[in-house]
Amino acid sequence: MLPTIAWDLDDIVMIDQRKLPAQEIYVRCRTAKDVAKAITTMVIRGAPAIGVAAAMGIAAGMKRSKATGTRQFTVEFNQTCDLLAATRPTAVNLFWATARMKQAFGVGALAGESPAELADRLRREADAIHDEDVSSCRAIGDAGAGVVPQGARILTHCNAGALATAGYGTALGVIRSAAAQGKVAQVFADETRPFLQGARLTAWELTREGIPTTVITDSMAGLLLRDHRVDLVIVGADRIAANGDVANKVGTYTLAMMAHAHGVPVYVAAPRSTIDLSTPDGAGIPIEERSAKEITHVGGAQVVPDGASVWNPAFDVTPHRLIAGIVTERGIARAPYDASLRP
Ligand code: MRU
Repeated sequence: MLPTIAWDLDDIVMIDQRKLPAQEIYVRCRTAKDVAKAITTMVIRGAPAIGVAAAMGIAAGMKRSKATGTRQFTVEFNQTCDLLAATRPTAVNLFWATARMKQAFGVGALAGESPAELADRLRREADAIHDEDVSSCRAIGDAGAGVVPQGARILTHCNAGALATAGYGTALGVIRSAAAQGKVAQVFADETRPFLQGARLTAWELTREGIPTTVITDSMAGLLLRDHRVDLVIVGADRIAANGDVANKVGTYTLAMMAHAHGVPVYVAAPRSTIDLSTPDGAGIPIEERSAKEITHVGGAQVVPDGASVWNPAFDVTPHRLIAGIVTERGIARAPYDASLRP
């Protein structure tokens, strides 16, 4: 199992995803502020992983709290939750995890627990969120493997793997489970400009496990689909609206349109913590815009001339009509999603 994020006593250790695949180094976070910085700077990324990191960051922060009374501890807890929730706007798992930590805190506070007892409760809740994410990914993998045909050639975008979750992965969880059943002939990984999650992270994960992987630039997917070299597309999600519209890494929409035009099914794999029933459709999903430097520079070298402006939305929304099925830990939801995604 890949070590995405783990406790080391009261510290949190995470693999630095900015440095892969060239270097395998780890970042140690002692405070909630350290974890918030790790999320905003992409040391850790991927919707389920940043939800887990936020929960662990809250637990780590409150464990080190110097607050003497419950009132001061509560104020600090709410500020810590706000800090973590403000790190990235699109992945709903972040808000889901923060809400769960608040709920756990509320139960303890109502029972009159001391700050030390509340801190222990938060640690247990963060551990539960971490472990449930791994088991959800395994269940997603098993459910999704059912739609993968023998000898499958699969196209994926971004990294929805062990690195994007507490372990095993969502879209890559499906690929892992299908590969274990001997069904996967070839995985095509979109490079995923500008952060290169596909080239750097997906290819790293899959090749480590001996799953045949070919990296293509994002703009090559159309040709690959036209030439009947892909049986299915599978991607992760950052937020799924109540009607089944899916926000995922920018480029997913283009890929889904192209796949649809060529009759290739597109599956989305995500835990239920990624479903946001309070957002009716994709138009209500906030799209993060990131620094221009991610586009103007590649590996530290400037590739865009000074004076050119840059637009860098990190996600796009794929309308539900382009999606053949949404794989969650409960099985495969199909249209109409308004009904099939309900709890
Ligand atoms: O900007 P990122 O790397 O956090 O974006 C990640 C994605 O878009 C993933 O596809 C998504 O979070 C699903 S991860 C299981």
